[in-house]
Amino acid sequence: MRYVESVAGIDEALPAMQELASRIWAPTSRHHPGQLAWSARYALPADLDHGPVALFRDPAGPVVAWAWAEAPDWLELCVDPAHSEVAAEAARWFLGLGAKGPVRTMVLETEAHVLAGLAEEGFEVEEQPWFTHHSLDLGSLPPAADLPGYSFRAVAPGEAEDRAACHRAAWAPPGGSSRVSGAAYQRLMATPPYRPDLDWVAVDGAGAMVASCLVWLDDRTGVALVEPVGCHPDHRGRGLAAAVSLSALRAARDLGGRTGLVCPRGDDGYPGPQRLYQAMGFVPGPRTLTLRRDA
Ligand SMILES: CC(C)(COP(=O)(O)OP(=O)(O)OC[C@H]1O[C@@H](n2cnc3c(N)ncnc32)[C@H](O)[C@@H]1OP(=O)(O)O)[C@@H](O)C(=O)NCCC(=O)NCCS
Repeated sequence: MRYVESVAGIDEALPAMQELASRIWAPTSRHHPGQLAWSARYALPADLDHGPVALFRDPAGPVVAWAWAEAPDWLELCVDPAHSEVAAEAARWFLGLGAKGPVRTMVLETEAHVLAGLAEEGFEVEEQPWFTHHSLDLGSLPPAADLPGYSFRAVAPGEAEDRAACHRAAWAPPGGSSRVSGAAYQRLMATPPYRPDLDWVAVDGAGAMVASCLVWLDDRTGVALVEPVGCHPDHRGRGLAAAVSLSALRAARDLGGRTGLVCPRGDDGYPGPQRLYQAMGFVPGPRTLTLRRDA
């Protein structure tokens, strides 16, 4: 084995995972540093079932692949295309954790090297809802609409509780509760590349937060990821999600962002969000594939 493997918890491994995702970023890759921050920190560790991360290093250099047991039955995998042979090794590490029952992972259809490694280890494509990566040239960002009765602003560092409540109002299913708590949001706000000036909310006349858009700017690539967007059910259909997202993307552009990225569902099961983003000018690109391997 040519690669040096080390295993860590997600908190410890996250910076190295983000660094690899940023270093190998291309429109054909799945992982963005901001997505990883969101996935790692959107809820408190006790409310998540996150497992370990294996980092694979070329002895002569930096991390060239990682595998994360995001859940006991869910693998996230990132591999430098220049080291494609490590993909199967990384998948084997995850399988060695010994999950009971089938395990799954998600890959962008353009990540041929990751797909090849997974196929070697017995993963097969499974028909499941998918996500379509959409991009937008921030140089041609349309202006945000002026919506009477509402205003738009970035959040302040001390507003974790209100900001989390705004997210929950949009995402909690009737009778359910989102795991995005104030305490979790506070941790998220301390996780690079989070910055409050790219975390935007729409507020109503009484000053209550009713819609939100969090943008993660990767300075190295200039890619500004939108994740997530939400609008309170009582305020939907008025253009708030579009306007708050355009405001946040404008802030990202002013800070050096060049490309907007968002990854909504692409299948017919949940078409609203992709209509929202396409109405803003986002252009659809590659889609994700779910792969499954039985125990
Ligand atoms: C998706 C969501 C953010 C939309 O919020 P919103 O404030 O109602 O959206 P807007 O009013 O800004 O809509 C902007 C555009 O998207 C379209 N759109 C938004 N939601 C839609 C839906 N459910 N079905 C069809 N089109 C939709 C609108 O038609 C509008 O296009 P138009 O300007 O050409 O008419 C909101 O429904 C929500 O919070 N959902 C739950 C969380 C979620 O799914 N977030 C997105 C995940 S990527």
